[in-house]
Amino acid sequence: MSLEKQTKVDRAPPNIPFGGYYLQQTPEDDPELTRTGPGTPCGEYFRKFWHPVCLSEELTELPLAVRILGEDLVIFRDKTGRVGVLHRHCSHRGTSLGYGIIGERGLRCCYHGWLFDVDGTILETPGEPPDSRLRDSFRHGAYVAEERYGLVFAYMGPPESMPPFPRFDVDDVPGDRVKPFSTHVPCNWLQQHENNVDPWHVVFLHSVLQAELGASAQMTEEHGAFPVMHWRETHGDNGMLWSASRRVNDFIWVRVFQTLLPNHGWTPSIWMEADESVYFHRVSMDRWSVPIDDSNHYVFGLRHFNEEVDPKGRGDWDTIGKEKVDFLDGQTGNRSYEEQQRDPGDWEVWVSQRTIAARNLEHLGKTDLGIAMMRRTLRQAVRGEAGPSPLLESSGRAVPTCSSDCVLHIPPRAGAHDRALLEEVGGSVTDIVLDSLEMYDREARRKHVADAVRNLETDMQAQ
Ligand code: FES
Ligand SMILES: [Fe+2]
Repeated sequence: MSLEKQTKVDRAPPNIPFGGYYLQQTPEDDPELTRTGPGTPCGEYFRKFWHPVCLSEELTELPLAVRILGEDLVIFRDKTGRVGVLHRHCSHRGTSLGYGIIGERGLRCCYHGWLFDVDGTILETPGEPPDSRLRDSFRHGAYVAEERYGLVFAYMGPPESMPPFPRFDVDDVPGDRVKPFSTHVPCNWLQQHENNVDPWHVVFLHSVLQAELGASAQMTEEHGAFPVMHWRETHGDNGMLWSASRRVNDFIWVRVFQTLLPNHGWTPSIWMEADESVYFHRVSMDRWSVPIDDSNHYVFGLRHFNEEVDPKGRGDWDTIGKEKVDFLDGQTGNRSYEEQQRDPGDWEVWVSQRTIAARNLEHLGKTDLGIAMMRRTLRQAVRGEAGPSPLLESSGRAVPTCSSDCVLHIPPRAGAHDRALLEEVGGSVTDIVLDSLEMYDREARRKHVADAVRNLETDMQAQ
């Protein structure tokens, strides 16, 4: 069999030097997970949940035209303060309501003056005969909106299946202030979401690479050590977490990062130095990867400001907003190509994986365990084979989550293998955090986890 024939039949690239000619180069993505337009399996799955669709600050005296999940929409705040999320094209003859006029109640099309309420009710059809029933015979496409933390969320599924607005244990924490942001990323949503479960990129892209390139550090140097990893599924396979355990002098730092399907992730401290004991400090950021269409997405986020996650006050409240964040270079596409080359960040790596990453051309290794796990759990959820999602629970209780930092004062042991110690401590901390997920009382859980980690530290010190 010729080399050419072998390649075509087996799709196995020949392992020869300078063999580029023979390599399969037809990119194929994974439509079941990447396509979210109306009627697609993943699109239907996304439409079970609430999603951020814009920042509150974007709602001005003019309507905002956006695309979400492949649907053209217009978002506006009418003069009574209600937020409307409507299909963008007028029900009359299709003109964009992005040119509409915001009224006391609803949004009026600029072409013939039809007036639409936030729920899609057609309030006026000027010019039609006074006895016309046309406006009562149907409604304009509308979605329910809810505003929280400076973000506008919409629910785009069937109204009869609308879940309660999601709440999490890291929301509304006394002493915590949050500020919203959004960035536009011109590639498929899954590339950003998968990045959440790729802790190895933190070591290289955000730490080691900076030293190599002479760029200023994107994260503290403590992130540059290769960690001992633990992986777990959470919330009935609707979520997953990784924990990264690192040695920092006489401390063991266990960083836990959690995601919840379909598209939410929580980042623990960005600026951890791990120079004192810390027990279950929570998150510096929420992030959602929201498809615009299959080739673009928004990252919506909430930056949390509190003493726990940023005791030295490195965050910058004033620089956060639309296309603006206060952490890490390379989160937006507003740099020159040369600047991107000299200091690449997350934005560059996501976008340059192709518009939709070619999953068939990848070579996954042991470091990609999280990626494989993410794809497996997402596929299972899209197919309706996962357990019930806590986001669809009718009680509307705040969902306990896991992202957190613990730092334990456990010095290296003479003559002992330190990675074995990291393995043991990291595994124990991960289990403590995970095993407390059924505790819905936030303060009780916080105390429970902190006490258990402190006890673990004491026990390990005594050994
Ligand atoms: S097209 Fe909108 S009112 Fe006619
Ligand atoms: Fe990153």
